[in-house]
Amino acid sequence: MGLRPAQGEGADGTMEKEFTYEDYQHTAEWLLSHTKHRPQVAVICGSGLGGLADTVTQAQSFNYSEIPNFPQSTVPGHVGRLVFGYLKDCPCVVMQGRFHYYEGYPLWKVTFPVRVFRLMGVDTLLVTNAAGGLNPNFEVGDIMLIRDHINMPGFCGQNPLRGPNDERFGHRFPAMSDAYDRNLMQKAHSAWKQMGEQRELQEGTYVMLGGPNFETIAESRLLRKLGADAVGMSTVPEVIVARHCGLRVFGFSLITNKVIMNYESLEKANHEEVLESGKQAARKLEQFVSILLASIPPSGNAI
Ligand code: HPA
Repeated sequence: MGLRPAQGEGADGTMEKEFTYEDYQHTAEWLLSHTKHRPQVAVICGSGLGGLADTVTQAQSFNYSEIPNFPQSTVPGHVGRLVFGYLKDCPCVVMQGRFHYYEGYPLWKVTFPVRVFRLMGVDTLLVTNAAGGLNPNFEVGDIMLIRDHINMPGFCGQNPLRGPNDERFGHRFPAMSDAYDRNLMQKAHSAWKQMGEQRELQEGTYVMLGGPNFETIAESRLLRKLGADAVGMSTVPEVIVARHCGLRVFGFSLITNKVIMNYESLEKANHEEVLESGKQAARKLEQFVSILLASIPPSGNAI
């Protein structure tokens, strides 16, 4: 009897079978044959931010349940639809509802759609999320342009690229020092100026934890000391896989709560607050994204 083959082992150590290149291809081809849309930009909507998908024009949507190989979203506030169409004049595909590690998915499932988008011809990924503000200058309702991230699960080996590398997607050891596109960040600042908002567009480092519990006070203090400005439970795996397969990436965190940093505070983080803040700020974010997408040229990096 030989040892269990590594390919049969999921990134989280379970025996679930990982997707093959052909699985990604099958889903991409299925979508391409079921829609006439040819998206340039993929948008992943964070908790409470799915409203962006409702602003898509000439929309054609697919429930995740009807798309071959697509996982299902289980979180309240996440619908579970892929919406094709236009945001302003930009051909987009919008994920209304993402997959989280804390739901029990291995990271290769969490990131499945990203490679599918790449195979469909998408060249740019916009990630959005709801996050807790660690930076004391941040207020609830602020939007933070993500300049960098800290992959906390990655520190203990939880990485979506773990396992055999498929060179058809990208290199074994991809750089992450340029994960967030500087050019698009500049465009984001210009777009923000056009909004005429009183609050400035924040910019900073997003740290991902596995969740699902919110942080202890000691953990929050540690994260701040490590240089993080906002904390959440998503986004980083998708960004890593997107950069691995050559997508241009940029992203925003909506600050839905200020993270509790002292033992005197009587407040507690909760999911309802996160969703409610998302709702209130969603229109601002929608407007921002559509101004921004109108100014994005193709990356010239088709697969
Ligand atoms: N911590 C982690 N994830 C979050 C938070 C938070 O405070 N707010 C929204 N998502």
